[in-house]
Amino acid sequence: MFHIKTMNKISALGLAELPRDRFAVADDFDDEDGILVRSAKLHDYEFPTELRAIARAGAGTNNIPIGRCSEAGIVVFNTPGANANAVKELVLCAMLIASRDIAGGLQWVKNQAASGVEVSEVVEKGKAAFVGPEIYKKTLGIIGLGAIGALVGNVALSMGMEVYGYDPYLSVANALRLDRHIHVVKSAQEVYQHADYLTIHVPYNDATKDTIDTAALAQMKDGVRIINLARGELVNDDAILAAIAGGKVARYVTDFPTNRLVQAEGVVCLPHLGASTPESEDNCAVMAAQELQDYLENGNIMNS
Ligand code: MLT
Repeated sequence: MFHIKTMNKISALGLAELPRDRFAVADDFDDEDGILVRSAKLHDYEFPTELRAIARAGAGTNNIPIGRCSEAGIVVFNTPGANANAVKELVLCAMLIASRDIAGGLQWVKNQAASGVEVSEVVEKGKAAFVGPEIYKKTLGIIGLGAIGALVGNVALSMGMEVYGYDPYLSVANALRLDRHIHVVKSAQEVYQHADYLTIHVPYNDATKDTIDTAALAQMKDGVRIINLARGELVNDDAILAAIAGGKVARYVTDFPTNRLVQAEGVVCLPHLGASTPESEDNCAVMAAQELQDYLENGNIMNS
């Protein structure tokens, strides 16, 4: 009987993948063979000697000490693509928030009404105050053309946008997913130069930390709108705040608030909602459970 420890609430559909005659699932094992985890941080977690595999129900693996796992022979799985549609839909929403100040408008209506201003007056003032551009016929730049970047590019085309994308590691499988109207270019700089909107979809690691820094921002158009639903560390906070203050960046929508970002004008912060749909939670949990089962029972390794 394999013991699977769940470190976060994992969807019931995912857990149903593990046959109960061969897998016991609980959150209180201390001799687990495998771990199913979403966002819990395992950096300080003491692994039992039995542990052979960790499956992350999500794409990023920053909450797992990969080096320590490698040394101990623990295989780490993730679920690439399983939440791509959920993230794509939120990117679309974030582009519209970056344009039309939906977040500011909502807050303003509430504040005005709460302070006793007549609703008809609130509407009249708001119409004039919250004017923002359409995304139609604008250019979207995408850094990272993996499962999410490709879906985002394709849907942006259907909204009438022009799309430029760059990915130094573009796989054949992902290249085949891209609509032929997407301009796949050879450098990030080319993307920066064209983009009215920029969205980033790369994993966070030492090489990608601060991808959007002062030098990258300097290559962008004035008034660019930036969306980051990938990882906070990909965009340098000092650089983006200075670029907003100087007018280079019109608005920054991020799924990764910091104390400074939540206070800043021109920044819209979401509470890491990219993958938070029931569909994506099911998809990720099912894939993660299948990976654990196949590895523990058959020794097969997928997405490690
Ligand atoms: C991911 O890495 O895919 C997301 O962070 C998943 C999540 O929100 O749990």
